Amino acid sequence: DKVRIVGVPLDLGANRRGIDMGPDALRNDGLLQNIMELGIEVEDMGNVITPPRPIDPPENIKLRYYREVICACKKVRDFVSESIDDDFLPLVIGGDHSISMGTTAALSKHYDRIGMLWIDAHGDFNTEETTISGNIHGMSFATSVGRGTKNLVGKMGVKTKVVEEKCVLIGARDLDPLEREELKKSKVTVLTMRGIDEVGMCKVMKKALKIACEDVDALHVSFDLDVMDPVYAPGVGTPVQGGITYREAHLAMEMISDCNKLSSLEMVELNPILDKYNITGKLAIDLITSALGKKIL
Ligand code: ARG
Ligand code: MN
Ligand code: MN
Ligand code: MN
Repeated sequence: DKVRIVGVPLDLGANRRGIDMGPDALRNDGLLQNIMELGIEVEDMGNVITPPRPIDPPENIKLRYYREVICACKKVRDFVSESIDDDFLPLVIGGDHSISMGTTAALSKHYDRIGMLWIDAHGDFNTEETTISGNIHGMSFATSVGRGTKNLVGKMGVKTKVVEEKCVLIGARDLDPLEREELKKSKVTVLTMRGIDEVGMCKVMKKALKIACEDVDALHVSFDLDVMDPVYAPGVGTPVQGGITYREAHLAMEMISDCNKLSSLEMVELNPILDKYNITGKLAIDLITSALGKKIL
């Protein structure tokens, strides 16, 4: 197994500064060493260049800084695409969650049927029409399955191969009103916090993996650190009470590793400025190594 790291220091898809420091915080906390200790070959492509924050206010407040976000995502697409060409599993570290639009575009160039786990407190299923905040990180799931306006959909120059009915949203607990209706009408399976409370993470993940891994040729996992309870992950841009625990997150990642289908992994929304003693960064590294096959025994 070979892993290639793609850093994306982007914060223009979110409304808080600091998320652009996420990739380097993970490196400083030993991301590469920890992956190497698993016996996995790892290469670091460094960070993609992201445009600076414009001086002018956003021209479209329902799609803040979309030109700059698209520009960064195209670079993500190219780095990820090259990694797959070279037979590496791309590990994309953010950066705000809008970067998924680049990752899923690259995957769509290489695979025909992609299943996806979107592990997140939020749905990120807004479009330019439904968004309240105008922040693009709240639209990247929708965009990745081809929903929304031409201002985002199709901008990566590839038709998406992420199959909506092969997508599962896990850990959701904060959906905007219109986003919620769109999700309910969609073919995405939504496994909320309530479901995790009622039946436990093991059953939830079994169900999720059955949907996203069977009858696909790639599995993409997009992990937004705000799915965690803020007790375990204070260093995120948009924390939401009542998230998953350290152990639940580990179990999810171990089960992902066991399914042997993982083709790409994203770890996003780390905000080192809001972190406490780097616990969120260290947690992110633990979760990445679990997804890559780290075992207790
Ligand atoms: N639903 C809210 C919005 O659209 C929050 C999205 C948060 N997304 C994230 N990737 N943290 O603005
Ligand atoms: Mn910045
Ligand atoms: Mn989120
Ligand atoms: Mn998200």
